[in-house]
Amino acid sequence: MDRPSVERYVGVVNAPHRAFLRSVGLTDEDVGKPLAAIVVAWSEAGPCNFHTLNLIRYVKEGIRSVGASALAMPTIVVNDNISMGTEGMRYSLVSRELIADTAEAQVMAHAFDGFVGIGGCDKTEPGLMMAMARINRPAAYLYGGTAEPGFYGDRKLTIEDVYESLGGYVKGIVSEEELLMVERFAHPTYGTCAGLFTANTMASLSEALGIALLGSASPPATSARRAAYAYETGMALAKAIETGLKPRDIMTFEAFENAIAVLMAMGGSTNGILHLLAIAYEAGVKLSLEDFERISSKTPYIASLRPGGLYVMSDLDQVGGVPIILRKLMKAGLLNGDVLTISGKTLRESLESYKFPEVQHSHIVKEVSQPIKPTGGIKILRGTLAPEGAVLKVAATGITRFEGRAKPFDGEEGVFEALRRNEIQEGDVVVIRYEGPRGGPGMPEMLRVTAAIVGAGLGEHVAMVTDGRFSGATRGMMVGHASPEAAVGGPIAVVEEGDKIVIDAEKGKIDLLVSENELKKRLEGWRPRPPRYTSGLLAKYASLVASASLGAITKPTLQ
Ligand code: FES
Repeated sequence: MDRPSVERYVGVVNAPHRAFLRSVGLTDEDVGKPLAAIVVAWSEAGPCNFHTLNLIRYVKEGIRSVGASALAMPTIVVNDNISMGTEGMRYSLVSRELIADTAEAQVMAHAFDGFVGIGGCDKTEPGLMMAMARINRPAAYLYGGTAEPGFYGDRKLTIEDVYESLGGYVKGIVSEEELLMVERFAHPTYGTCAGLFTANTMASLSEALGIALLGSASPPATSARRAAYAYETGMALAKAIETGLKPRDIMTFEAFENAIAVLMAMGGSTNGILHLLAIAYEAGVKLSLEDFERISSKTPYIASLRPGGLYVMSDLDQVGGVPIILRKLMKAGLLNGDVLTISGKTLRESLESYKFPEVQHSHIVKEVSQPIKPTGGIKILRGTLAPEGAVLKVAATGITRFEGRAKPFDGEEGVFEALRRNEIQEGDVVVIRYEGPRGGPGMPEMLRVTAAIVGAGLGEHVAMVTDGRFSGATRGMMVGHASPEAAVGGPIAVVEEGDKIVIDAEKGKIDLLVSENELKKRLEGWRPRPPRYTSGLLAKYASLVASASLGAITKPTLQ
């Protein structure tokens, strides 16, 4: 492979560039070796990426062991939990693009031959993988790891419990003392949210995509095995630079199909759909919601992981991690084993050489022939309310059909207060609009509201539809990503109080029960609202972002 670092740093004319490599500790011997970047999403604003700097030295040692050099640099983190339910949440999905852009800028500007991306919190993972696909220089992904669950008495806790306890407190079901105890014990270590929420979902998908080493998604952030995976990821990256193995050799259409199958089998976060669409776009792979529908309809849901199931990521780790799921799907003919992985081996070869612990795992991962549900954990819905599609995490609800009265809100802000005032009743379909990619902007996640509904005991009796997003921790009959969004005149914009809405997961339908003429008349009368932001990052983002049905990617206007 032609190495960009040779052109930048080797030869007499590159003396000025080399002078700065010397200033950061590289020797005569280092110059001319392959040069790798380690792009690390690090921040003390939250536990998810609190510890990721510690992994740099192991990655570096792994890279050096194969005869390459490495330099580390940061990228940003927007912490989803800390921004949840506030204006700050509008920056969350936006940060995915910033992370991709900053990784691209640093790797390209400094002529690195490839990079290891170290992620943690939700958007850091797809952001780094998007940069890998976009730049297409050798790259490997390393997850910082999950937090361990908390315990309060014999209750196993995740951050989801704090939100649901808050909902219970608002309704007078949970005492202030209990809520504050749950807060205290919910997230006892650094690392990402403990359940199969978005961060652990994306880490699992990084293994399925082949861009991360097999088994690297599940060890907790506090596990000593993280250092070993960091070392081996560094080695794998240096070897990929040596052999010229690039992300687009790994992240092919078939690899995305594998990742979708794993998303469906695990009942992962609905955000997984947005992020896979966005990574595929960067990789030049044509992926659409139809691919998710197709694969969901033939992939059984087999993993009992929170929020839909009972266990957390560290429990899955103890029984063999994501490879247990990959092996079952592969045996059932639901995965393509011929795709290449960052190890240089195919997925099938990697699984054959993987050391599975000989322990019972059937309490967490079921057999494909005896699944929790016969089809995937996420359903794509379409209909008059969302002609371009919407998503429902069927793994997180026992209900398959809901018919109710629309209760629309223009923005998330009023919903929590309406709940507090008992204005949300059984049989309501809460519609939250103008929170889409452009309207939000940034599709804020609504865990605060959805968990409050569940915590208030309304989870089985109230549904929600939004053009925004849900956290991976959300459960209940909650439909997100309704497209087209309200800000561009999608039907969700013209829902009126009391309209009938039907959500049918089995039929994959979401309909607004008004006549065709009435809907047409309302849409013709719709006028766009002034944007929430006219300057700064959110305004720039809103002017570039595409529909959620395309992954809410930002598209250059000059093509
Ligand atoms: Fe960072 Fe959940 S808030 S992983």
